[in-house]
Amino acid sequence: MPEPFPAGLLCTRKTLTSQLHSLGVKPGDILLVHSSLSSLGWVNGGAEAVTGTLIVPTQSPDNSDPAHWQHPPVPEEWKAAIRETMLPYNTRTTRTIGMGVIAATVRTRPGAVRSMHPQTSFAAVGLKAEELMDGHALDCALGERSPLKKLQEANARVLLFGVGFGKCTAFHLAEYRLPGAVVKEISFAIMGEEGRVWMTVNDVAVSDEGFEELGADFEREGSVKRGKIGGADAKLFGLADAVEFSLRWLMLKRT
Ligand SMILES: CC(C)(COP(=O)(O)OP(=O)(O)OC[C@H]1O[C@@H](n2cnc3c(N)ncnc32)[C@H](O)[C@@H]1OP(=O)(O)O)[C@@H](O)C(=O)NCCC(=O)NCCS
Repeated sequence: MPEPFPAGLLCTRKTLTSQLHSLGVKPGDILLVHSSLSSLGWVNGGAEAVTGTLIVPTQSPDNSDPAHWQHPPVPEEWKAAIRETMLPYNTRTTRTIGMGVIAATVRTRPGAVRSMHPQTSFAAVGLKAEELMDGHALDCALGERSPLKKLQEANARVLLFGVGFGKCTAFHLAEYRLPGAVVKEISFAIMGEEGRVWMTVNDVAVSDEGFEELGADFEREGSVKRGKIGGADAKLFGLADAVEFSLRWLMLKRT
């Protein structure tokens, strides 16, 4: 059987750049991007063609306590051995899960800097990569000592394309600011000074429950620019605006 031609729009670096400009992205912007390559159409050059100065989530949730695994759960008698043999987080080699090929491409690009959290890291390329990724505390996955706070202070914007507000990691920063935020234990393997360590820390319990509805309400407030990138629906907004709105929204809806 002959292969069918690729479907959808033909996207090139030039058409993508022009659409980003139309949406309001400017050279020098700091952008946190949540993406789906396949939503664009057919991109000449694939993921390599759509990277610039940007930050992407590079989460690795499988470096965690198997006691909490659901998809699939593992047999009770395996759990101790899994904890003992879990590979330690390594900013260079730990793979990301569910973040997409664009994020994986940014992470592995020469000069990319990845933050230190074993489960909720970000990776950045561009002028401010080092300073934005620095100091990601092990007991602060997505809060005040994570890159999200620095992105807020740096007036970063969030770009979603081909994905909805359910993937908007920035909303989690507001969860840290909720009065009475619930704290839970999380565990992971890291490389300590004397070798691999299985570490348990206390951190705020986060959940993306309601994020689509939260995003829809945020969009109605008028701070979100909408457009197209390739054939994908794109949304661009200020990270600080999103965090400020979501704190108000979560205080009403979750308490
Ligand atoms: C999960 C998710 C990544 C899936 O999107 P996707 O478009 O299916 O997957 P990717 O972005 O990895 O792109 C790979 C797909 O692009 C397509 N593709 C391959 N080459 C391509 C090209 N040149 N041009 C366009 N599409 C191409 C293929 O369908 C490929 O899928 P395959 O590897 O199964 O064949 C996306 O829905 C998502 O959630 N992204 C955001 C993740 C995030 O930021 N999470 C953080 C908070 S939870």
